[in-house]
Amino acid sequence: MKLPESMQSKGLNVAIIMDGNGRWAARRGLPRVAGHRAGIASVRRIVEHAVDRGIARLTLYAFSSDNWRRPASEIQSIFWLLRAFLRLETQRLLRRGVRLQTIGRRDRLPKPVLREIEKAESATATGKCLHLCVALDYSSQESIARAAVGVTESLTNIGSSSLDIFKLMLTQALMMEGGEVDLLIRTGGEKRLSDFLLWESAYAELLFTDCMWPEFDKNDFDAALEEFHRRERRFGGLPTATLQSAASTV
Ligand code: FPP
Repeated sequence: MKLPESMQSKGLNVAIIMDGNGRWAARRGLPRVAGHRAGIASVRRIVEHAVDRGIARLTLYAFSSDNWRRPASEIQSIFWLLRAFLRLETQRLLRRGVRLQTIGRRDRLPKPVLREIEKAESATATGKCLHLCVALDYSSQESIARAAVGVTESLTNIGSSSLDIFKLMLTQALMMEGGEVDLLIRTGGEKRLSDFLLWESAYAELLFTDCMWPEFDKNDFDAALEEFHRRERRFGGLPTATLQSAASTV
């Protein structure tokens, strides 16, 4: 689908909760790992397309801190697939100008996965087109709590107790993670945020689709971007038309 110039989506910050891999597989009588494998193919497609659309930042929820509750065999499969993705895709990411980083805890990740992440992060550090953030062992509440502890310590040191400064510093601390999200997409039919980028999504446009992640393709991504561009973002203000008619009656 060819978007008009005004809808090229340059500079947007998009976040995706990639849900539905397991159900996609179950419906085909396949093991859950087949769903995750198909999910990786979807990641590859959507990252390519995000570059083509000029998206500035794409944050993908790959493994939440609560996902440790899954069976060990499924966790192993997810990390195996992630490691293979990093090993096979880093050069392509580099060529397309993608800078890859992960957010979330690193201390509980399997060591070989961590090594592959570090290699991919340093190999793609100069990427200027798309900032691809992969959320791994990620919990937004934990991120906010950690950032709050850091900011509280800094403010105590400089003797300030201003709530505005606290909020500003907290936002800056969290900008390093997800940045302020413009559009948050969740595939798989559920309508919840599951502890993902809670602070950063304060004014995000939310889009929930029944499409399972392995089936989410370029057209679905474009449809989501079109829906985003149709919405009027008011950030707590008034609709533009109301403001214009108010101004003309003054
Ligand atoms: C949600 O589907 C998906 C996951 C918890 C894992 C997704 C992770 C990957 C595809 C690897 C990501 C890799 C990169 C490179 C970003 P689900 O299993 O919860 O699906 P269900 O709700 O249908 O059971």
